[in-house]
Amino acid sequence: MRQRKVKHEAERFDAVREYAVADAKAMKGRWGERFPGKDLYLEMGCGRGQFLAKQALLHPENAYIGTECRVSVALRAMELIRAGGNDEVHRNLLPGERREVFEALVSEKEPLPNATVIAEMILDPRDYFADGELSGIYCNFSDPWPKSRHEKRRLTSRSYLEAYRAICRPGGFLAIKTDNDDLFRFTLETINELHEGVETRRTDTVRMPGEPAESAPADGRSFVIEELSYDLHSSDYAAKDVTTQYEDRFVARGTKIKYVKVRF
Ligand SMILES: C[S@@+](CC[C@H](N)C(=O)[O-])C[C@H]1O[C@@H](n2cnc3c(N)ncnc32)[C@H](O)[C@@H]1O
Repeated sequence: MRQRKVKHEAERFDAVREYAVADAKAMKGRWGERFPGKDLYLEMGCGRGQFLAKQALLHPENAYIGTECRVSVALRAMELIRAGGNDEVHRNLLPGERREVFEALVSEKEPLPNATVIAEMILDPRDYFADGELSGIYCNFSDPWPKSRHEKRRLTSRSYLEAYRAICRPGGFLAIKTDNDDLFRFTLETINELHEGVETRRTDTVRMPGEPAESAPADGRSFVIEELSYDLHSSDYAAKDVTTQYEDRFVARGTKIKYVKVRF
């Protein structure tokens, strides 16, 4: 995301401080206390929070935690949470009949009670979440880090994928969207490598496109590609898609969105 100078950043941050988590690592294993009775979802690199706020509005039964390492960008997400999602979200409406539902929801204008931001660079998600604490994780339009020496920084590199699987409950999911062909290929290959790794332990399975479905062993954790598209907006998954700020931009330019959902 292009860095712009934000006017009065410190004052603005102070004004919305309560919409970010002060000591996020101390929340490990305790997110249920912050959001009692809710299923927890994480968005890695939430940007200005458009997707986070929409999800929070559409699913009051869940809680959404966004991570964003650039303070000036996290600030925009926090301001959007305070505004009840009523800002740029309002101008980027959902398709079809969900649009009306959404417009009614944003008109509430109360701060979103079920969304928050971790305004930090997340290197190991396991520092912030206990095993099985989350129901799902989203990686939307992650930075591609095209140079191979930066591979480990990609949010779908092996160590991140392993961490996601650990902090998601069995039956939870990881959903990834990207405009970037190389990052998408890398991501699918990494999932495949993990499959090869877990096969030797005989506790997990992964199904790559074209492979027949297998059932997971009763005592194991599966790693199954459940949904896959190289052109999300022309696919059957389009109707349920909740767009991000980057996604709206890419779709307007005619870029095809790549999408995969893995079930743990
Ligand atoms: C390309 S932007 C996409 C933003 C948003 N998800 C969207 O689709 O509109 C990726 C964002 O992830 C953030 N980011 C990248 N690595 C991160 C990390 N390890 N922890 C937290 N945020 C990260 C960046 O600062 C950037 O704002």
